[in-house]
Amino acid sequence: MIIAVTNQKGGVGKTTTCVNLSASLALMGHRVLLTDMDPQAHSTISIVADPQDMQYSLYDVLLNKTRKISEVIVKSTVPGLDVAISRISMAKLEPSLIGEFDGHYRLRDALNIVRDDYDYIFIDTPPTLGIITLNALVAATHIIIPIQSSYLSLEGTDDLLETIEKVKRIANPDLQILGIIITLHDKRTNISKDVVDRIFEVFGDKVFNTQISKSVKLEESPAYKESIFTYAPDSIGAKQYKLIAEELINRVKK
Ligand SMILES: Nc1ncnc2c1ncn2[C@@H]1O[C@H](COP(=O)(O)OP(=O)(O)O)[C@@H](O)[C@H]1O
Ligand SMILES: [Mg+2]
Repeated sequence: MIIAVTNQKGGVGKTTTCVNLSASLALMGHRVLLTDMDPQAHSTISIVADPQDMQYSLYDVLLNKTRKISEVIVKSTVPGLDVAISRISMAKLEPSLIGEFDGHYRLRDALNIVRDDYDYIFIDTPPTLGIITLNALVAATHIIIPIQSSYLSLEGTDDLLETIEKVKRIANPDLQILGIIITLHDKRTNISKDVVDRIFEVFGDKVFNTQISKSVKLEESPAYKESIFTYAPDSIGAKQYKLIAEELINRVKK
């Protein structure tokens, strides 16, 4: 299964969710690939030891197919978790793909070559609904949408859902929303509680039961190139992301 983690808002926990969910599944013994489609390369930088030593990135794979995806896949600091790396040059991809007849299908074609090597493939996406995110939605079998439990956090979800519907109609009819993950939750504030209620009203049982709390450890771990499971194994963030991973496995079985 190929899971795109997407929301065109920045700072909602897409990358943190990608890194820690994929780490959790890898540590359970699954073979996992994290595909970093964000030109900011935060996933790559967070868990790949020396990404600058890699000769190529997904940019070279997706731009004109001169490089195979296997040439940009590297082991992360988490055993069992590989990363298809991004770097800042990916920012040039967006304008280059517009107008190409197969511009939306490049990632799907690239992942086809390696998809049998992995149990789970995650795709981290940039905070836009541009052609890079469209590549992720076309390549994916499932979508996870992280939503922060704060004021205005549901603003823009209509556009995202509309885009998902469009992708389903035109390019990927089997695409499913696997679930909504409530992130950066602060249960001390009234606004957080109100927003959580509203998210459940809108998305019902699509919302994962576990919410990810705001936690300093989750914010710190990328700086040490670790997932939360080695950086702070007993932290609330580690417990919550493990619960989400277990819930994900159960949802997939259904
Ligand atoms: N649960 C959390 N608690 C505290 N900080 C978090 C949490 N989730 C993410 N962050 C921090 O918030 C910022 C934005 O998160 P990130 O995962 O990079 O979002 P996105 O990929 O959607 O832009 C980062 O600095 C990250 O470390
Ligand atoms: Mg990100």
